[in-house]
Amino acid sequence: MPLSRWFIVSMALGATVSAEAESDPHSYAEPAVVSVSALALDLNVDFAKRELAGTAELKLHWHDASARTLVLDTRDLKIDKVEAIGSDGKAAAATFKLDARDAIFGSALRIQLKQPAPIVRIHYRSVPEASGLQWMKPEQTSSKKHPFMFSQSQAIHARSWIPLQDTPSVRFTYTAHIKAPKALRVVMSADNDAKHTLDGDYSFSMKQAIPSYLLALAVGEIDVRETGPRTAVFAEPYIVTKAAKEFEDTEKMVAAAEKIYGPYRWDRYDILVLPASFPFGGMENPRVTFATPTVIAGDKSLVGLIAHELAHSWSGNLVTNANAQHMWLNEGFTTYVENRIIEAVYGKDVATMQLVVDDQELHAEMAKMKPAEQLLVTDLKGIDPDEGLSGVPYDKGRWFLRFLESRYGRDAFDPFVRSYFDHFAFQSIITDQFLAYYTDNLAKKFPGKVSQAEIDEWLHQPGVPANAPIAHSVRFDVVDKASSDFLAGKLAAKDIPAKAWVTYEWLRFINALPAKPDLAQMKALDQAWKLTGSGNAEIAFRWYVATVRAGYTDARPQIAAFIERIGRRKLVVPIYEELAKTDDGKQFAIAVYKKAKPGYHPLTQGSVDKALGL
Ligand code: BES
Ligand code: ZN
Repeated sequence: MPLSRWFIVSMALGATVSAEAESDPHSYAEPAVVSVSALALDLNVDFAKRELAGTAELKLHWHDASARTLVLDTRDLKIDKVEAIGSDGKAAAATFKLDARDAIFGSALRIQLKQPAPIVRIHYRSVPEASGLQWMKPEQTSSKKHPFMFSQSQAIHARSWIPLQDTPSVRFTYTAHIKAPKALRVVMSADNDAKHTLDGDYSFSMKQAIPSYLLALAVGEIDVRETGPRTAVFAEPYIVTKAAKEFEDTEKMVAAAEKIYGPYRWDRYDILVLPASFPFGGMENPRVTFATPTVIAGDKSLVGLIAHELAHSWSGNLVTNANAQHMWLNEGFTTYVENRIIEAVYGKDVATMQLVVDDQELHAEMAKMKPAEQLLVTDLKGIDPDEGLSGVPYDKGRWFLRFLESRYGRDAFDPFVRSYFDHFAFQSIITDQFLAYYTDNLAKKFPGKVSQAEIDEWLHQPGVPANAPIAHSVRFDVVDKASSDFLAGKLAAKDIPAKAWVTYEWLRFINALPAKPDLAQMKALDQAWKLTGSGNAEIAFRWYVATVRAGYTDARPQIAAFIERIGRRKLVVPIYEELAKTDDGKQFAIAVYKKAKPGYHPLTQGSVDKALGL
């Protein structure tokens, strides 16, 4: 939408600030002057050089007719040539300048044009250390036969493999022509064809406009299994069958979400299971969620992660935060919707246990955070958006929405959320736009239910407001009793009634261990329940942190194996941080890290370096 129209719309709404009026602190782009409406990629994937090379064509929409400069985001890209393509289709060389590199934001690419060209074509290459890509040698994959590469663009790493306006306030469609070694499959956040022959020549089209952080690419030995009429699992051969079984309820989840929030708008919902070095749990790349294999526990107990990434199909991919300062609009809504999906598919018991654990962990996390970091709407100027990651946008955001739900009731709140998704579909917004819509469509319709002061407290005050609804799990009553009896020495480890416990019951139990657990009790627990070496990564990493606190060094071989195999930051960084607290622990951690580092993603390397003070 042209800038002028935006301002008219905003003015008509009164004091509402539009996403365009608030600039993105993490991008050099100037979307108010000119914005990208379509991207055409033509890239060759070169594993030997660890390089993507080719061209990106950007279709431009000039809002300021007198402007002649296009500013793009890049990070460590080698720019070989820039051409302006006129309306007659003719290419003419354009001059450009790459600014000095900023450690967080990369380098602005300033392209000088003679006239506002409708298309600009950039010839470029990525570097082997590109922050948004991981290149893996055959030895690092499960079959050890073929190399593997994948992207992770969020928050601001798309700029390390494509020159573009790397801000979620800009949306564009894309096409891509990707050439890769034969025998490998190419997957993108677009229209994947499960039946594509492995000829090394792939073409994609994404017809829905998306923000840059949802651009995604993976290339490797990737097999496919259908799990439903519009769902499939892509994964390395060793795990594809297991993954398809674990994620067999995906269609049920899509249907459950549609029932509350309206039709799924992205045609297919596939899942790509990546190698264990994937630095996140999941990434909501449209049409194909990227996921860590560490959620495959064998009993579907961690599929909440799929519900989460699927939920982003509404909150995030459809209605997008215009910049990371409003991340709660993405992650808080998604965490809320995730829990609703889990409740619909697996029942209230399971959904409630998740809420109770997440509420408790949020409180524990916030206790260590500065007040300014506990706000839902944050000021991230000059701050690396990867550093600003915490449970606040996720769980405080989700809690805020549950608060609204509890006051208005689902009969009113569910249709409101659905209409919010429809109203802002395929737009990027900030909190004020949510609030204006909320005021007109919920608060004014049901006056007296929630005050403005309460809303302000949730959004702009630290901590969790005293009016927050408290979730209670009766299944945890049993766990808590066992835990206090065990810790008091009144119940032997083997007599804990945990035979039928599911993951969340174990998390509750482990979280109740004291700050410095008793060594003999840790040993007894391990003997009775074999927690060390657990195949459930959520249980394992919390348990390993507890073993380090307890000085229970017998667990070290399994800890070493865990952090060497897995690169998911959430699972490994807390272990490194805990180990770094003692000299002996730190020595052990550094020795393990030496072996693990080459297999880690650049993001994980950065986090572990920091945890170990390297
Ligand atoms: N979109 C996020 C991942 C992300 C956030 C990447 C910010 C980079 C910057 C994704 O949806 C997510 O939240 N993943 C979680 C899953 C979990 C909360 C179920 C993760 O990776 O742990
Ligand atoms: Zn998320």
